[in-house]
Amino acid sequence: MDSTFNVLIVGAGEINFGSVEGPWNHASLSLRLERILGPRLRVVGLIDPDAARADVALTSKLASPAASSWKDCKALPSVAAAAGVLALGALPRLAIVGAPPGVRGSDEPGRDLELQLARAFPGCALFVEKPVSSGGAEGCWRVARELAARGTLVGVGYMLRYLKGGREAIAAEGLVVMGTNVRYVMAYEYARKPAWWDKTISGGAIVEQATHFCDLSRYFAGDVHLPSVVAHSVQHHEPPGHLSAKRFDEDPIPAENRLPRLTSATWKYTHGAVGTLTHVIALHGTTYDTELDVYADGYHFKLVDLYSAPTLSIRMPGADDPFETELATFIDVVDGRRPRDAIQSSYADAIGTYELTWAIRRASERAADEYGIAPGAAGDS
Ligand SMILES: NC(=O)c1ccc[n+]([C@@H]2O[C@H](COP(=O)([O-])OP(=O)(O)OC[C@H]3O[C@@H](n4cnc5c(N)ncnc54)[C@H](O)[C@@H]3O)[C@@H](O)[C@H]2O)c1
Repeated sequence: MDSTFNVLIVGAGEINFGSVEGPWNHASLSLRLERILGPRLRVVGLIDPDAARADVALTSKLASPAASSWKDCKALPSVAAAAGVLALGALPRLAIVGAPPGVRGSDEPGRDLELQLARAFPGCALFVEKPVSSGGAEGCWRVARELAARGTLVGVGYMLRYLKGGREAIAAEGLVVMGTNVRYVMAYEYARKPAWWDKTISGGAIVEQATHFCDLSRYFAGDVHLPSVVAHSVQHHEPPGHLSAKRFDEDPIPAENRLPRLTSATWKYTHGAVGTLTHVIALHGTTYDTELDVYADGYHFKLVDLYSAPTLSIRMPGADDPFETELATFIDVVDGRRPRDAIQSSYADAIGTYELTWAIRRASERAADEYGIAPGAAGDS
């Protein structure tokens, strides 16, 4: 059986081929495809109207260790061109759609990329980037209906949903979420694409970027009662909105299109819980600061550093009172229900800690004497 897996890449930009900006640096979808599919991967086409950009992307792939997966790849300007060129045997099983949202999520010509692909390549699965569009949601619903009627398999790139742990634990405990709190603090210094800073092009700070955390909020707590959403922002022209480390010129962007620096929102979920979002464009360098809290009766799920080193901690009933656990254990030993070594801190072991604390204290006092900063020394009045 031929296990070759034909893939069509749409968009020769950062999400598919990498960037120096943001946490997805060195983590492009094409690299991941190569890792997941290995020698099965055969990229049949790369669609991008920007021929020069497609060429750069393709040339670098042909010089990479995965070159054999790319050797048949044709650079193509449009879906129509791809439909004319990709014949039987080179038809894609999967299209990775990393084009900007302005050309997707609608049935209007020019903004109907998913429908073009589904019509040209029936049976081809579509993996579409977020956000689903930059236009009205009605258009997206029309796309959804046609894709469903065609039976097209579609997935959207909200990858943070795939982080393991929290949701499974909530489901396993049968918990009803009481509230969510998400924080997304962006490191903006290397965000140099003017289009990203223009909300009429990118969708803006919330629609294009905080979308990941709005999505996670919904993933954990369900649908939001949209009329309940309230929000405040710090705008670019307000004193707290001044950014000192921008590496591009924001002036050509019309003032009314520029991004807010901070957005703070709250809402009610339809089942009664409350959600909170804080999105901030504030940090320098490249490391983002991201955090999600989910509260339920007795529980606090905390997921931090979602892009770089996702870490989940769970506080749950019973596991959070060390005094009680300590005493209950001791009484169990006294009662003979547990062996002596269930006592975590023996007398001899506690002396070791006592000695360490004295050693630290004495060393710090010696150093203070040496530097003439001991309390009561000359100069301390
Ligand atoms: N999941 C994530 O964390 C993540 C990260 C980065 C970007 N994204 C998303 O990926 C999408 C693309 O972002 P990017 O940063 O790669 O943008 P980009 O501007 O770097 O690249 C987009 C590319 O698409 C091409 N393009 C434009 N119209 C096209 C069309 N009709 N058909 C094919 N190609 C077309 C452009 O010429 C450009 O080369 C956006 O929706 C963005 O939100 C997601």
